[in-house]
Amino acid sequence: YDLPLILGIETSCDETGAALVRGCELLGDDVASSVDEHARFGGVVPEVASRAHLEAMTPTVRRALDSAGVRLADVDAIAVTAGPGLAGALLVGVSAAKAYAYAAGKPLYGVNHLVGHVAVDQLEHGPVPKPAVALLVSGGHTSLLLVRDLATDVVQLGDTVDDAAGEAYDKVARLLGLPYPGGPPIDAAAAGGDPSAIRFPRGKWGDGSFDFSFSGLKTAVARWVEDADRSGAALSVPDVAAAFQEAVVDVLTAKAVDACRAHGVRTLIVSGGVAANSRLRALAAQRCEAAGIELRVPRPRLCTDNGAMIAALGAEVVAAGLPPSPLSLATDTSLPV
Ligand code: KG4
Ligand code: ZN
Repeated sequence: YDLPLILGIETSCDETGAALVRGCELLGDDVASSVDEHARFGGVVPEVASRAHLEAMTPTVRRALDSAGVRLADVDAIAVTAGPGLAGALLVGVSAAKAYAYAAGKPLYGVNHLVGHVAVDQLEHGPVPKPAVALLVSGGHTSLLLVRDLATDVVQLGDTVDDAAGEAYDKVARLLGLPYPGGPPIDAAAAGGDPSAIRFPRGKWGDGSFDFSFSGLKTAVARWVEDADRSGAALSVPDVAAAFQEAVVDVLTAKAVDACRAHGVRTLIVSGGVAANSRLRALAAQRCEAAGIELRVPRPRLCTDNGAMIAALGAEVVAAGLPPSPLSLATDTSLPV
């Protein structure tokens, strides 16, 4: 007896992903990214992303099937990101998934992108303990989730009230003259800087909520850069990068550990593109250890958007016996968990 074979399709932002998963096993995976096409705009341009998905979709699915050594006919179900994400981008993946499901006579499951970021951890570390808290940090989201069951019971504890964490990295990188996407160059520059050189504000620190705010921090960095310009003082990019990064990571890890404590949870999962950040990983490890919390961070390739996260969640949804989605499945740019 084999667990069902799930094809996952993801197109919510700028990555076209397709992957094959059985239970907690990743059998094949392919991702095409349009990130380079957005670089000169300093952020994802929705129309450009949609067009890139349209071009990449079918070849990406083919490569995923080939890398798993299976055919579409072998698949038991197709899972696709129904939201949240960019409207036009979501439409490409959902339309493709419907066509595959209809043509091959397979059940279709529309699933939530945010929960997919948590489910993907099962492919690396095995079944997600119940309950768990998840911190999702990427260019598009900054969320704290309470996960009692991946398929049926996920509650959003908090969200950003303005910029996403990765978006803050991208905007601050631009202020400092560093390339897009800004996370990796700021991470690298910060390694040579002093995080205590400047004390930047911690948005929503200690307010008792699990929400985040990064726009005040971004403004504070902008003001710092302007002041240095005006006074002619040399701007230490490494120090500003390190101090900015410390402000972001301090709040993220403090609130994530608080959320675990508040809900009696002993496992924290950190996922999304910003989970690649070296200081976030180090501080999360330190604070989790001090609080007796197990920290799980999937490898970077699984943290960024991909089809494996959607296939992993699809496997949970099928295992839970939830009904398939109709072929009229709609997308929802702000789909709740
Ligand atoms: O998950 P992802 O690939 O795409 C979505 O936004 O959904 O995340 C991309 C974000 C970008 O904002 C990028 O600057 C950030 O993740 N990022 C990082 C690092 N690597 C990528 N942020 C901080 N440190 C990093 N090392
Ligand atoms: Zn994402």
